[in-house]
Amino acid sequence: MFARRGGGDYNRAMNPLVISCSLNPESRSAVLARRAQETLAKTCDDARLIDLRETALPMCDGGAAYRHEHVGPLAAAISGAGPILLAVPVYNYDTNAAAKNLIELTGRAWTGKVVGFMCAAGGKSSYMSVMSLANSLMLDFRCLIVPRFVYATGDDFNEDGSLSETIIRRTDELCDTAGELARAWSEVAGSV
Ligand SMILES: Cc1cc2nc3c(=O)[nH]c(=O)nc-3n(C[C@H](O)[C@H](O)[C@H](O)COP(=O)(O)O)c2cc1C
Repeated sequence: MFARRGGGDYNRAMNPLVISCSLNPESRSAVLARRAQETLAKTCDDARLIDLRETALPMCDGGAAYRHEHVGPLAAAISGAGPILLAVPVYNYDTNAAAKNLIELTGRAWTGKVVGFMCAAGGKSSYMSVMSLANSLMLDFRCLIVPRFVYATGDDFNEDGSLSETIIRRTDELCDTAGELARAWSEVAGSV
C-alpha cells in the first residue's frame, strides 16, 4: 500500500507521544517507554514521554474529575499527537487500572489515533491482555491499533534492569511501524 522508507516513516514534526502508565516506582514498562521515546527522538524533534507517576490523575467519576488540572493538558497532548505508544503493566489479565482510567478521562482525544502497546508482565500467558483496551480504542474512538506489540516478562530484563537485545529490537520495530502507519493513515484517514 505504501513504500517503506526504512528507519520509521517519521517526519521531524510528527509529534509521537509515549505514555507510561505504571504507577510503580520500579516499573519495568517505564523502561520500555523510555527506550521508545529515545528511539523516536532520533528521527523526531518533538517525541514526547508522559509518565503517569509524574502526572497524577484522579479516578474518573464521569463528572468533576474531568476538571482536574492535569486532565485538560493531557487530553490536549493526546489530541495533538501523531502516533501514540502506551507502555502498560499487565494486571489481572488486563492493562492496569491507571491505563483504563487515562482513557476514561481523555476519551475523545483518542479519536482516529494510531496506537501501539508495550507491556510488562509477570508471565508469558497473559500476552493477550491488551485486547480489551485495544478493542475499546478501536470501537469507541476508531483508533488504528498497531498489529505488533512488545510484550516483556522478567526474563527480558537484564540484572541491572536494562532491556534485553531482543526487546530493544522489538521496541524499535514498534516505533518504526507506528510511524509508517501514522503516515499512511494520515493520507487515507479522510476517506475512511
Ligand atoms: C495487581 C497485580 C496483578 C498482576 N497480574 C498479572 C497478570 O494477570 N499476568 C501477568 O503476567 N502478570 C501480572 N502481574 C505482574 C506484573 O505484570 C509485572 O509485575 C509487571 O512488571 C508490572 O509492570 P510494571 O513493572 O511496569 O509496573 C500483576 C502484578 C500486580 C501487582
